[in-house]
Amino acid sequence: MKLIFKLFSILYIFSFAWSCQKGDAQSTRQINKTIIADSAMVVSARQEASEIGLSILKKGGNAFDAMIATEMALAVCFPFAGNLGGGGFMVYRTSEGETGALDYREKAPLSATKTMYLDDTGKPNSQLSRIGSLAIGVPGTVAGMFKVHEKFGSIPMSDLLQPSIELAKSGFAVTSKQAKMLDQMQSLFMEVNKDSILFSGQFRKGDSIKNLALANTLEKIALNGLSEFYDGKTGQTLVDFISSRGGILNVKDLKNYEAVWREHIEISYKNLNVISMPPPSSGGIVLGQILKMIEDFDLKALGHNSTKYVQTLAEAERRAYADRSFYLGDPDFIDIPVDSLLSEHYSKLRMQDFSFEAATTSEEIEHGKFSVAESDETTHYSIVDQFGNAIAATTTLNGAYGSKLFCSELGIFLNNEMDDFSAKPGYPNMFGLVGAEANSIAPGKRMLSSMTPTILEKDDKLWMSLGTPGGSTIITSVLQTILNVYEFDMSMQEAVNAPRFHHQWLPDEITFETIGFESQLLDSLKRKNYRVIQKESKILGKVDAILVLPDGKLEAGADWRGDDTAAGF
Ligand code: DON
Repeated sequence: MKLIFKLFSILYIFSFAWSCQKGDAQSTRQINKTIIADSAMVVSARQEASEIGLSILKKGGNAFDAMIATEMALAVCFPFAGNLGGGGFMVYRTSEGETGALDYREKAPLSATKTMYLDDTGKPNSQLSRIGSLAIGVPGTVAGMFKVHEKFGSIPMSDLLQPSIELAKSGFAVTSKQAKMLDQMQSLFMEVNKDSILFSGQFRKGDSIKNLALANTLEKIALNGLSEFYDGKTGQTLVDFISSRGGILNVKDLKNYEAVWREHIEISYKNLNVISMPPPSSGGIVLGQILKMIEDFDLKALGHNSTKYVQTLAEAERRAYADRSFYLGDPDFIDIPVDSLLSEHYSKLRMQDFSFEAATTSEEIEHGKFSVAESDETTHYSIVDQFGNAIAATTTLNGAYGSKLFCSELGIFLNNEMDDFSAKPGYPNMFGLVGAEANSIAPGKRMLSSMTPTILEKDDKLWMSLGTPGGSTIITSVLQTILNVYEFDMSMQEAVNAPRFHHQWLPDEITFETIGFESQLLDSLKRKNYRVIQKESKILGKVDAILVLPDGKLEAGADWRGDDTAAGF
């Protein structure tokens, strides 16, 4: 344990810059205003995508139709994370109360090996898992959209893709945040692609970017269906491109890829029923564990973002993330003690050594042990339709613009999701997360995620749909947003606006956003032996959410930290 701890401390210092979560300086924060709709709503990272999703609902489509249209629109106008070359997860609740989860996560290519990122000295070369062709996992997004359509679609796929095809042809307007991010990416784009790409050059707010190659790719998918991407000309173009850049993804990888319906995670927190993403995401389990560990505390009495509140959440987070690191990975490859991790008994036991007097150090905390055998740069959008169906979907290329490798012929960026594997136990990934054998690389295995698309029921009725990007901070951002509404009576938008903090076991520190926390709070935590971090411009998550109000109307929570926008009717 001590060795892992030391290795972690050294490596974390050199770990990759967490580019996808640095927004504009928070001093310029502009809080989004409350938006309420009568019966249907889409909240996503971009206005165009929310409006395209809404246009499908207005045509009589359902939340699943709107999901496909929104996801494809994000691939056009939010290439930072929206994608055809990545993957994601979706949790749903139908108007009849049926719930479920879809896994369209990327997989390791069949030629991947456990040691593929280790150098001659046995250390992981993080450049290889983060940049360029070897970082790419087999993309799942297109398969995910067809899987949703097959089960729930009510409008032809071609009609759902058409608005995104038009947007790609007519061009989308660059926002100032987008221009800034593109500017920061220029040298990496050139280094990885060895040539200029569609997104090379200087962009200013209001510039229009047309992606005709992507329009063409979407048109072919609309015409020929799923096989166009996984077993057709588009797939072949993708494989040829990746191999020309030294990658290992081949035709068989694409042919074998399937999106999978999974049994969702369901836990109770007081009178809420929390429905969230199961492995290969850690989101549902870790969120559930934290909620179970804090359930007996009177959080309202502790006070929002008070010293004791921060301590309670941080200590529960520390313990849950330690378990994440040891136990979680792809359920198709390993056995995960889901019931034990989420049991009341275990949660209580886990918090037994917590005291308000002083911090427990992460060095003292290991994964929990069970005596009972078990029975065996991301974006989120939420949609509620006029029929009462709800979805929460989080999709990603991983880092900002993924591997930065752009396939000009298809108009798409390719993910760097392979970095979400644990390249070697004890060595952190780009989000500082350490893993173990459970999340080691194997051919065809899915890498562990933190994505936490979540739907909540209150008194058996739909209450909230939410999620966020943010790597390891996804789970804690979702947690705080739920608690802000449920425990502290904030409106949905206020809950999203509120400043956030985060602990993930290792590194042993609590990260705070740069505004909204008094120095007195930070000082009092330091006196209790907590390491407190407040990095410049640090933002934690970009939560998009929808709350069903007591009168049945829908209130949006669109995060001011991005260009996130709600559209409804
Ligand atoms: O699956 C995961 O947990 C990560 N690949 C998510 C990446 C992410 O949220 C990047 N966003 N800023």
